[in-house]
Amino acid sequence: MPVDDDQLQSTKLVALGRLAGGVAHDFNNLLTVIEGYARMLRDEPDLAQAEAVEYVDEIIRAANRASDLTRQLLAFSRRQSSQPRPLDLNDLVRQTSGMLRRVIGEDIQLETELHAQPSRIFVDPSQMDQVLMNLVVNARDAMPLGGQIRIATDFRDPVVELRVSDRGGGISPEVMSRMFEPFFTTKESGKGTGLGLSLVHAIITQAGGKVDVETALGEGTTFCIRFPLHWGEAGAAEAAGVERASPRGRETVLVVEDEEPLRSLIRRLLERGGYAVLEAADGDEAVALARAGTVKIDLLLTDVMLPHLNGLDVAQAVSAAHPRARVLFMSGYGENTPPGAARLEKPFGPVKLATTVRELLDQRS
Ligand SMILES: Nc1ncnc2c1ncn2[C@@H]1O[C@H](COP(=O)(O)OP(=O)(O)OP(=O)(O)O)[C@@H](O)[C@H]1O
Ligand SMILES: [Mg+2]
Repeated sequence: MPVDDDQLQSTKLVALGRLAGGVAHDFNNLLTVIEGYARMLRDEPDLAQAEAVEYVDEIIRAANRASDLTRQLLAFSRRQSSQPRPLDLNDLVRQTSGMLRRVIGEDIQLETELHAQPSRIFVDPSQMDQVLMNLVVNARDAMPLGGQIRIATDFRDPVVELRVSDRGGGISPEVMSRMFEPFFTTKESGKGTGLGLSLVHAIITQAGGKVDVETALGEGTTFCIRFPLHWGEAGAAEAAGVERASPRGRETVLVVEDEEPLRSLIRRLLERGGYAVLEAADGDEAVALARAGTVKIDLLLTDVMLPHLNGLDVAQAVSAAHPRARVLFMSGYGENTPPGAARLEKPFGPVKLATTVRELLDQRS
């Protein structure tokens, strides 16, 4: 049941529209929290140290939530090929359930029941977000008067199971026989594209899984997805959960970023790590600095999207002037970078910055 790229993109857009409203609302709340605590930190003259740390922790938590939100939005809007990696299914459900709750609205409760044993599967996380989103929206549509949706995980060695259940009207045999076809929908025109389940099927099959449906008219429906357990190494995301100390260095880094607050932050972080830092606000400035040749540049850390000259042009010019310099692109929208180029995805934290910079510099022979 082939689903082509454009179809995938158009369902993503529908999903993106649904998401955007909810996300904007959450984002404003988070910004209010961040600004409120930041102002208290600045204006309260005799704030106790312990309290200041608490405020800062609130700011960090809000910022982390905000970056989860953008990650989800971008995962939907990005046109990218499947990038499977080992993932714990429970983590995935936990991380997505907040977004799903925003999408289904308040008349419907979403309950999760996660198996105690964490079980890894090998999937593309943003595609799995789409699978969950499609199944949950279908479940919601099956219960126009409200009700409860249950997402459960289960592990029956070597099979990892995901079940999405509703207590809606169930599915008739006629619909059942056609519902995985692309563009098959029973919803009024303009409401459903009919692509949801065909996408689910395509994504799950590609991941080596299977989709089954149990349904009873008037009682409800359960979509049951079975994946093979993944035996390989833990994914980068899981490993990154462990706090590590930031590695340091003494090399010279040229930072090119047009957003001034971000540029200052990166400069401070790198300087604290022992590096010498040159700054440029755009591509022209960066190229001029590199060509002046007053200091040897060891690493170029550049935004991809810049006014005038873009990051790729900057990289070329800097490499010509400093052939041993490594290049690290910062990007936030899945912009194109040359194949094999090193990338640092925004938003990133201090430890991620420090380790990525160090790794690249250490690759030099
Ligand atoms: N949980 C469910 N309960 C009852 N019927 C369902 C359920 N899930 C799917 N269906 C039926 O299967 C049809 C196809 O579903 P599919 O997700 O492919 O498209 P859609 O939901 O109609 O459109 P879209 O996913 O683009 O919003 C639906 O129109 C509906 O009739
Ligand atoms: Mg659907």
